[in-house]
Amino acid sequence: MRLTIDGRSVEAVPGQTVLDAARAAGIYIPALCYHPKTGKAGRCRACVVEVEGMRGLKESCALEAKDGMVVHTATPKVMETRRLVVDLLLAEGHHNCISCQANSSCELQDMVYHLGVERPSFLIESEPTPLDLSSPGIVREADKCIHCGRCVEACQNGVVNEVLAFAYRGSHAKVVCDDDVPMGESTCVQCGECVQVCPVGALVLKQPRDVRIRPHETTATKVTCPYCGVGCQIDLHTKDNRYVFAMAHEGQWEKQPNKGMLCIKGRFGLDFVDSPDRLRTPLIRRDGELQEATWDEALDLVAERLKATKEQHGADSIGFFTSAKVTNEENYALGRFARAVIGTNNIDHCARL
Ligand code: SF4
Ligand code: SF4
Ligand code: SF4
Ligand code: FES
Repeated sequence: MRLTIDGRSVEAVPGQTVLDAARAAGIYIPALCYHPKTGKAGRCRACVVEVEGMRGLKESCALEAKDGMVVHTATPKVMETRRLVVDLLLAEGHHNCISCQANSSCELQDMVYHLGVERPSFLIESEPTPLDLSSPGIVREADKCIHCGRCVEACQNGVVNEVLAFAYRGSHAKVVCDDDVPMGESTCVQCGECVQVCPVGALVLKQPRDVRIRPHETTATKVTCPYCGVGCQIDLHTKDNRYVFAMAHEGQWEKQPNKGMLCIKGRFGLDFVDSPDRLRTPLIRRDGELQEATWDEALDLVAERLKATKEQHGADSIGFFTSAKVTNEENYALGRFARAVIGTNNIDHCARL
């Protein structure tokens, strides 16, 4: 089916929203509460558009595209409404982009810039809320929260850890962990999915903060998580070839085994790549001491010992353990080596232990 957005004929598939159809065609519509993984929320009204034949402004994130629809995304009425939305959001929190970790990767900041809001129209004086630094990997800054609800939806229904929820009423409403305890004292399992979907700097990772490198300064490289056999797709963020932090790769997230989510290991456990404690060369024990050796020396020694053991005690005296942390191809190669070269079926895998 086809609809017209800002005078352009745009293709859409049944079930697609106007927002998704517009984005697929490269038309910018801001969206603060909507995220592809958490779905429509209809909470912020940042995404409003005008549709010919429909009364009032419509939330494009919740409006199903229909054949023949005529949509306008940037009329004076739409822009005025969006400006009011961001004006109220800026007035409600304490936003200081200069020092914010989300600077240059913040969806609210993008929207403010796009709308040309030079300075907030309303000023509400309030005491700043202290940062919640209690969690090992995540910083929470309630004053930057725009109450979009993405983190709550992600924690409740995405990863189903059910830690985050909205609590209190009116101007006291806020996102809380469990019964409003610090994150580090809650039942949070540190999966980081709430950070992944937060559009602003209200939830950020500690790792880049610790080294004072903002996400936009890093280069993201898509890798497969080495920790288990699920095969989660990760964006490894590096600067000057050093690890800074990891986020789930969200491109085509529906088709990924991890659906754009990570566990604590993939999210926070990859800093070992730059650890000075990592083995850089094989080690051979000589005279009771582990000593550095070349790969040729190490492989010759292993071959020699395997041969001697097989000759002396038979092939079944040798066994092999392989790992979910290596590729299928490497596991297959070891299976072939055990059976075809050594001649034993004694091969097992850590995933069975
Ligand atoms: S959350 Fe966004 S808008 Fe708020 S201070 Fe940080 S960068 Fe600026
Ligand atoms: S890190 Fe995971 S478990 Fe903890 S609050 Fe965020 S989404 Fe919930
Ligand atoms: S913490 Fe972030 S994701 Fe959660 S409601 Fe606030 S702004 Fe939205
Ligand atoms: S993004 Fe549509 S209402 Fe928030």
